[in-house]
Amino acid sequence: MKFNIKSGSPEQQRTDCVIVGVFEKRRLSPAAQKLDEATGGLLTEVVKRGDMDGKLEQVLLLHAVPGIEAERVLLVGCGHERELGDSPFRKIVRKAAVTLNETGATGAASYLGELPVKGRSLHWRLRQVVETTDQALYRFEPFKTKTETTYRPLRRMTLMVTDRKELPEGKRAVAEGTAIAAGIRLTRDLGNTPANVCTPTHLARQAAALAKRYATITHKVLREKEMEKMGMGALLAVARGSRQPARFIILEYNGAGEEQPVVLVGKGVTFDSGGISLKPSAAMDEMKYDMCGAASVLGVFRALGELALPLNVVGLIPATENLPDGEATKPGDIVTSLSGQTIEILNTDAEGRLILCDALTYAERYRPQVVIDIATLTGACIIALGHQASAVLGNHGPLVHDLLKAGQESGDRAWELPLWEEYQEQLKSRFADMANIGGRPAGTITAACFLARFTEKMHWAHLDIAGTAWQSGEKKNATGRPVPLLMQYLLDKVAR
Ligand code: BES
Ligand code: MN
Ligand code: ZN
Repeated sequence: MKFNIKSGSPEQQRTDCVIVGVFEKRRLSPAAQKLDEATGGLLTEVVKRGDMDGKLEQVLLLHAVPGIEAERVLLVGCGHERELGDSPFRKIVRKAAVTLNETGATGAASYLGELPVKGRSLHWRLRQVVETTDQALYRFEPFKTKTETTYRPLRRMTLMVTDRKELPEGKRAVAEGTAIAAGIRLTRDLGNTPANVCTPTHLARQAAALAKRYATITHKVLREKEMEKMGMGALLAVARGSRQPARFIILEYNGAGEEQPVVLVGKGVTFDSGGISLKPSAAMDEMKYDMCGAASVLGVFRALGELALPLNVVGLIPATENLPDGEATKPGDIVTSLSGQTIEILNTDAEGRLILCDALTYAERYRPQVVIDIATLTGACIIALGHQASAVLGNHGPLVHDLLKAGQESGDRAWELPLWEEYQEQLKSRFADMANIGGRPAGTITAACFLARFTEKMHWAHLDIAGTAWQSGEKKNATGRPVPLLMQYLLDKVAR
């Protein structure tokens, strides 16, 4: 999808379709009123006949409307104006995109950005239109020999503002939205790619491609030999059972000279079978998504490359498979992490924290202003928060606060769980400094407690995205979360 911005009146737009809103009951939005005037009251007539009373997500496509330049008009129901919050707004935008995608219109001029969403600025609304439209039309079909894509998909959308003075703000919103949408797409594509293709080496190649494309990005990839030399015993313990070699991927985005960086660490388990602590086979295919933390880091770098924000950001991706094998790590094995602390691996399925702890120790060398890890870490997180919110836990109040706020702003929400000292007791080991599991109670918290033991010297937060990174079941699909949250966090940092 291509997006741009323009100012002008709806009746004058030479386009395949003009998109305007109608509120319940049969109240025309400002742009719809303009069309009504230009057509001698046609829209008033149409809503009076009862074909569109403005119910949320109702749609009506009009052809050959006299008195205007556009070939079609799409009326979209917006519900009651005073109930128009974030979530109905996104539904309206999605509905318009999906509807037009099934028609012959390949371009459109959208006035949905004018809708008065409670507490939201024009900038917010326009950016949401871009991100939501792009996501609504997302398909993943490189592995289908017969594509299911519609015959004439929607390709271009012009976001309309009514006043020329709104153009600079609008341009910024569209640029941000387009960059974030590109990041989300990359994250979704990588998540959806099957594990026989999306291997640690494949992730490393993605980093190389980003570094090649953007002058602001450099990358480096460590192999198992180098990890061994450094002492990343926890990461390597997970990689032992796999024939695909592990990779440690380092991305650096330089947009602010010598400033201390924000470090993002993404879990890159390209397939999680559980290892010797083998998972049950039902829906095990979904464990190809266990690299969505890594994919979100790559997505953020894609967006950063496009937006050129004045920040320094480092991305660290420990990437490996988790498979059972004659050489695989066994329950009870004890390993030494990069930090020097020893870990008794009581369950090989708690592998995410093992690769993250070495990456977090590695992060120390950057003296980061903050470090944020992103991981599909625990099934318990889905039980606690479902698929609405990512969990956030951390050792620095202001950082957690900023992430929660960025979640609210972007619609990619997170919710804090406590990281109290008392939970640490669950990680006690008879034989090593700690165990890698803490029992059934508070599984998301004890996983974070484990990571906290490797981040004491830094301002750190952890995002558990097990419930938010993909949709399960029939419509299984990567969501691209939490790229919107992370980009909002970085944008907020720049604005401060
Ligand atoms: N990748 C999984 C977490 C997961 C499970 C994400 C289901 C999404 C859906 C992680 O590696 C894992 O297996 N965690 C275990 C930890 C347990 C052994 C302490 C879990 O959640 O069961
Ligand atoms: Mn696991
Ligand atoms: Zn896992």
